[in-house]
Amino acid sequence: MGEKQRKLLVLYASQTGNALDAAERIGREAERRGCPASIASTDEFDPSCLPHEESVVFVVSTTGQGDSPDSFKEFWRFLLQRNLGNSWLQGVRFAVFGLGDSGYQKYNFVAKKLDKRLLDLGATTIIEKGLGDDQHPSGYEATLDPWMLSLWSTLYQINPKYFPKGPDVMIPQDELTDQPKYRILYHKQETLEPELMAESDIIERARGMSPGKLSKDKTKPDCFLKMTKNEVLTKAGSTKDVRHFEFQFVSSSIKYEVGDVVELLPSQDCSAIDAFIKRCHLDPESFITVCPRETENNGSCGEVITHVPIKLKTFVELTMDVTSASPRRYFFEVMSFYATDEREKERLQYFASAEGRDDLCNYNQKERKSVLEVLVDFPSVQMPFEWLVQLVPSLKPRAFSISSSPLAHPAQVHLTVSVVSWTRYKRTLKGLCSTWLASLTPEQEINIPVWFRKGSLPAPPQSLPLILVGPGTGCAPFRGFIAERAVQAETSPIAPVMFFFGCRNKDTDFLYRDFWESHAREGGMLSEVKGGGFYTAFSRDQPKKVYVQHKIREMRKKVWDLLCDGAALYVAGSSTKMPCDVMSALEEIVMEETGGSKEMASRWLKALEKAGRYNVEAWS
Ligand code: 2AM
Repeated sequence: MGEKQRKLLVLYASQTGNALDAAERIGREAERRGCPASIASTDEFDPSCLPHEESVVFVVSTTGQGDSPDSFKEFWRFLLQRNLGNSWLQGVRFAVFGLGDSGYQKYNFVAKKLDKRLLDLGATTIIEKGLGDDQHPSGYEATLDPWMLSLWSTLYQINPKYFPKGPDVMIPQDELTDQPKYRILYHKQETLEPELMAESDIIERARGMSPGKLSKDKTKPDCFLKMTKNEVLTKAGSTKDVRHFEFQFVSSSIKYEVGDVVELLPSQDCSAIDAFIKRCHLDPESFITVCPRETENNGSCGEVITHVPIKLKTFVELTMDVTSASPRRYFFEVMSFYATDEREKERLQYFASAEGRDDLCNYNQKERKSVLEVLVDFPSVQMPFEWLVQLVPSLKPRAFSISSSPLAHPAQVHLTVSVVSWTRYKRTLKGLCSTWLASLTPEQEINIPVWFRKGSLPAPPQSLPLILVGPGTGCAPFRGFIAERAVQAETSPIAPVMFFFGCRNKDTDFLYRDFWESHAREGGMLSEVKGGGFYTAFSRDQPKKVYVQHKIREMRKKVWDLLCDGAALYVAGSSTKMPCDVMSALEEIVMEETGGSKEMASRWLKALEKAGRYNVEAWS
């Protein structure tokens, strides 16, 4: 064993692709030092094989309210089995790197619990866990860089056989030793079956080849939706543009429940796609297949992306995000090798280095430069298409809380979407998906690929009393809840509902005002006589801000009584701070009503959460 070359396994659990990026970086840096590394997602790796590994690096992200990525769930269930015992992983070394956001309460929760569990199972830490923070001006990489250096030097101290080239190897600056993961095959049109040239099922085929970076079940859409209504909810004078969209199913309907989430694949601006293709000197009409490249160590190093030939332009349009996502550091590193202008090369090398990290972050992430803009900024670079396929961030579906009820709106899906735009360095940036949706009209009859999934808001049974808190577009799922109960109320009794809504100004931002008010009238579900209530916080209608949590405090007695009657709390909204502020208000209420301490109140609410009676869905 002592003589054998050591190797590293890097396991990652990624929701949006960042943990995958970090894992690939760790793998690359290990290989540059001469240590073979294999990289796998936690849903591709059989956890029962863990005891056979020597050294494992885990890269795991924590999403939303302390949730783990979908690809981690089964792996984690396996590790939690009691019968594994506390020496199951004896002899296995590990290191955990977490990606999280300290703006959320359960910061890097998944990394912390994994680290603890691995120790409990008898594994040994190589170095203390690293916690990457999205709130840091340079993102998680600010922690990853020094953490990796410490990892290499500690592994080298444990056994120099890990790194025949030493732990401090310099990245060669003028020679690209890495190979792209994919190969592109170009097909002669004459050799193709005529039906392949038809565009009819092209989206479906294209999704089957999405660069496979996310979870494996994300291949084909569940179905397609067609827009039937696009209505502006906010009034003239509002600082926001919030839309109510209605859709119908194109072919067969998908069953969903109130509180579910729909993910929708947006289309990119055609002129930007054309500009990208032109900038990269690609032939938009050529037919390609994209296959994994074989490597010496691992056999194949990627997944098959396309099984059937597809037009290059369609491939770019449906899988490569050239207009909204910023490229990562490795993109700049590879670019530097293809720069023919010395000044561009120098700048790119600096960006790719640890010293240039903060400046890269300023240039790239703060300014939110798209791939296309970066390529335009460095005109001497001509990157081969293979590298672009690998390094351009993949186009991802965007998630929205559904605002309809399948009972009240059969065969329809409604969404409530804020059309986002913001200014960075004097440039107006627009949210890709919301801007695209807002530009659509029902007449265009565009088929939109969608996926349905459970969010963090389980559909409540009609006998469950509810306290709903949904400022801004956070009211979306609760429109579904209340519409559903209104239908149920026609035939059987329903439990009371309190709803706290907030927005900036009553006259311009009061989303679905008539709908809520009709249910708050005498005898309606949100009326006092039915034990419910409708409370509004218009934050900017007076000099001092009034938020939903202030209204919750005002109604403390009624909130407490309903909680004691078994009510469930549901909180939704587009703010990372709001759920914490609401939780503090609730803590205060519990303290006052019980005379207990802050810790006791916090435990009380935690127990509520555990019992499934405190559910939060927040988005940014
Ligand atoms: P503001 O924009 O005036 O600060 C919907 O976006 C509503 O949520 C707005 O009225 C917004 O107020 C409010 N909001 C912003 N931050 C909040 C917080 N931390 N808690 C509760 N409401 C908040």
